[in-house]
Amino acid sequence: MEIKTYLNEQRQRVEKRLAELMLEPAGEFSRHIESMRYSLFVGGKRIRPVLCLAGAEAIDPSEPVRNSTLTVACALECIHTYSLIHDDLPAMDNDDLRRGKPTNHTVFGEAAAILAGDGLLTYAFDLLSSPHSAKITDSVRIRIIQTIARAAGPLGMVGGQSLDMLYEGRQVGYETLRRIHRSKTGALITASVVCGAMVAGASIEQEEALGIYGNNIGLAFQIVDDLLDVEATTEELGKPAGSDVQAEKVTYPSLFGRETSRTMAREAVQEAIAALECFDAQADPLRALAQFIVDRKK
Ligand code: IPE
Ligand code: IPE
Ligand code: MG
Ligand code: MG
Ligand code: MG
Repeated sequence: MEIKTYLNEQRQRVEKRLAELMLEPAGEFSRHIESMRYSLFVGGKRIRPVLCLAGAEAIDPSEPVRNSTLTVACALECIHTYSLIHDDLPAMDNDDLRRGKPTNHTVFGEAAAILAGDGLLTYAFDLLSSPHSAKITDSVRIRIIQTIARAAGPLGMVGGQSLDMLYEGRQVGYETLRRIHRSKTGALITASVVCGAMVAGASIEQEEALGIYGNNIGLAFQIVDDLLDVEATTEELGKPAGSDVQAEKVTYPSLFGRETSRTMAREAVQEAIAALECFDAQADPLRALAQFIVDRKK
């Protein structure tokens, strides 16, 4: 199957479930809920939820499994969207454009944007812990919640974001840069694939293989994000091009140059695909998504 067709189909499923699950603006919390919905429904590639669905599909492509996975996938998108809202704040990357629209804080104000992020993050755990489907046992549900909490938390995405800020304007070595990218971006991407597989009843060996896959595509994803920051236009990206240079971020292109960075992203994707050796054709979407991650133009 063409990856574009696959992505579109899966995205549509995600959009539909997100619309069903998200809170409606009503009553005194209307403005707060509107601010959460603004960033969530303004666009986005939905790559993490699609990876979650593809992770489940590699193990069990049946409809009931996909249906249960969709809720987990939507929770991941809520967490990712929160991370973008906070990433754009003046105290962090200070960007005014996201997903082709003004950033949350420029529309709703800084305090509301912080709270929109907080709301999305906590609502994600509400979704994950509410039994939407009989397909997931309580023990699997708890493992999924823990995996996502760890990936998003102080030793995962949030920790990585703190390193990203700490090293602004400073020189870092290869190991440190890779650690930043693996934690700020790779951790949640890895959890997306692995948690999809958990819903589908993956074995520990399968989870491990998908963990290696996730780590590598996660790293490649952020290397390409760094490259696009210097190679693409603001219009193409829907977020300000050149933002990293302006903020003096440590990035792959700033450390290795563009050509070597691209080679490194390609190598990581090859390693990711190699980790899927023990899977049959049901993992083909994961293989194609890995390739999409280096080939993408936004
Ligand atoms: C951007 O993520 C932030 C990074 C972790 C690099 P995406 O490129 O997935 O952003 P959206 O969801 O498509 O807007
Ligand atoms: C963001 O990295 C990683 C997150 C966890 C949000 P960037 O700061 O490079 O993401 P963009 O380029 O603003 O989307
Ligand atoms: Mg950032
Ligand atoms: Mg940023
Ligand atoms: Mg970036």
